[in-house]
Amino acid sequence: MIAAMKQKYSNDFQTPPEALTPLLPHLKKKWTIWECAAGDGNLVKALRKEGFKVVSTDILTGKDFLNWEPKKYDCIITNPPYSIKQEFLERAYMLGKPFAFLLPLTTFETEKRQNFFRCCGLEVIFFDKRINFQTPDGNGDGSWFATAWFTNWMKVGKELTFTSIGDTLSDCPPCKTSR
Ligand SMILES: C[S@@+](CC[C@H](N)C(=O)[O-])C[C@H]1O[C@@H](n2cnc3c(N)ncnc32)[C@H](O)[C@@H]1O
Repeated sequence: MIAAMKQKYSNDFQTPPEALTPLLPHLKKKWTIWECAAGDGNLVKALRKEGFKVVSTDILTGKDFLNWEPKKYDCIITNPPYSIKQEFLERAYMLGKPFAFLLPLTTFETEKRQNFFRCCGLEVIFFDKRINFQTPDGNGDGSWFATAWFTNWMKVGKELTFTSIGDTLSDCPPCKTSR
């Protein structure tokens, strides 16, 4: 019951702009980006501030990602409603354009999704901390789960990329590598 309530609630989390930082090096400046579940428009504003052209849609404004597509766009970026992440992933893979979805790490859990990722491809960008989402009641404390950018066709170049929110990555004691 609590899990179900949490899931419904997390459908409405708005993403703080700093979550975009690790994605930015992988976006081409000339791209038109489709934010297909824009909500309050946090990601839209942050992307426009970075100079990107953005198509902003949401089911609340009449455009269902599952059956509508803009005429022209190069890439899809959103934090989708988690209760239908399966449908969002299927649709993104079918559309065939570069995409990045901010999703909980539990997205890896099902056999069906693992099959998608194995067959269609996946590059994941992890954060070293939990994202401080803006919750429907206005608090910034909704992050009881860890998330990552699930991307494909963005040419990140590695299946797993580990990034830091805020500060720099720390040194690695076991293999003595500095970053
Ligand atoms: C978790 S909120 C994220 C908002 C925004 N992307 C952000 O990151 O701040 C998910 C949004 O998906 C929208 N949504 C739900 N189902 C949708 C659908 N089928 N197509 C498009 N948007 C949908 C909701 O209205 C909500 O605004």
